[in-house]
Amino acid sequence: MKKKRLLSGIRPTGSLHIGHYLGVLCNWAKLQNEHECFYFIADWHTLTTKYKDTSELQSDILEVAKDILSSGVDPNKSTIYVQSAIPEVAELHLLLSMVTYQNWVERDPTLKDMVRMLAEDEEKAKEEVTYGLLGYVVLQTSDILSVLGELVPVGKDQVAHLELSRDIARRFNHIYKTNLLPEPKSLLTETPSVPGVDGRKMSKSYGNDIKLEDSEEVASKKVLQMITDPKKIKRTDPGNPEDCQVAYKHYEIFADKKTLDVVQDECKTAKIGCVDCKKRLAGIMNSYFHEIRERRVSFKNDKDILEILDAGNKKARQVVRHTLEQVRDAMKLKTW
Ligand code: TRP
Ligand code: SF4
Repeated sequence: MKKKRLLSGIRPTGSLHIGHYLGVLCNWAKLQNEHECFYFIADWHTLTTKYKDTSELQSDILEVAKDILSSGVDPNKSTIYVQSAIPEVAELHLLLSMVTYQNWVERDPTLKDMVRMLAEDEEKAKEEVTYGLLGYVVLQTSDILSVLGELVPVGKDQVAHLELSRDIARRFNHIYKTNLLPEPKSLLTETPSVPGVDGRKMSKSYGNDIKLEDSEEVASKKVLQMITDPKKIKRTDPGNPEDCQVAYKHYEIFADKKTLDVVQDECKTAKIGCVDCKKRLAGIMNSYFHEIRERRVSFKNDKDILEILDAGNKKARQVVRHTLEQVRDAMKLKTW
């Protein structure tokens, strides 16, 4: 059976954390064995909110590329590229914007979340919305349709997005009497919620994240900062893993059943203190990420990374150019 084309992108927010790995990158590495995968670094998407200070954008792209490759995404199996290296994606964005109703983009629920991120005050936040941000779902649709992507791995919260992508594809096909554009389907993927060491959502901006690029030493120090059951103060106080919102949550993600049983028992009967318990956790997490970190330090030379991206960009651009020729043709535009 012919493999289906799958597409996914990630914003270059700088070096990625273990939440990104569990939610995105490890799925990418798995999916490349089942589908024809296109994975890209969404630098234009970053600009929809962070367009003023772009001084770190290029180094962020490189760091994210290193994280993608260390996570086992293989450039021989998948096409790994940078969004802005394919100008035809922007052309598709323009053309699709013509058939996309304004109220479709305004209705997008995730837009509301993004607006909320722009400023505390809702009214102020609304004033901050640019034309580019309003259109980012159309840009996302262009990413997908530019490679004629049929499958898009998403978490539950992003299913609404794809609904809009399907609406746009369907409307294009209907107006121009073609079946060129596929209606992309979402592929629901496991995205465990990973708390940061302070109990809030793990995020670079909160400074509570454990990065793939962290050395084992740095990572262990961060694990020791994780909050635990507030009732277990002294080593001799019994605790409850259910109330240990961060450290035990990480045990549940990374440890096997047998270890979890041991932790439950030792915590509840005060056989262990939180410091020792977290030291053990750090060991488990470090061995989980050992191979990825080894690979990451092996990418010392930025030139090697740029070469891999270059090759991916070329491959992706060829596919996208072909799509755009067909899109122009359907719209009676000439390819000059
Ligand atoms: N919007 C996604 C994010 O913010 C990144 C992204 C851009 C994407 N285009 C996409 C994901 C297309 C899947 C498909 O992380
Ligand atoms: Fe959490 Fe372990 Fe401390 Fe129990 S002993 S509260 S599981 S860190």
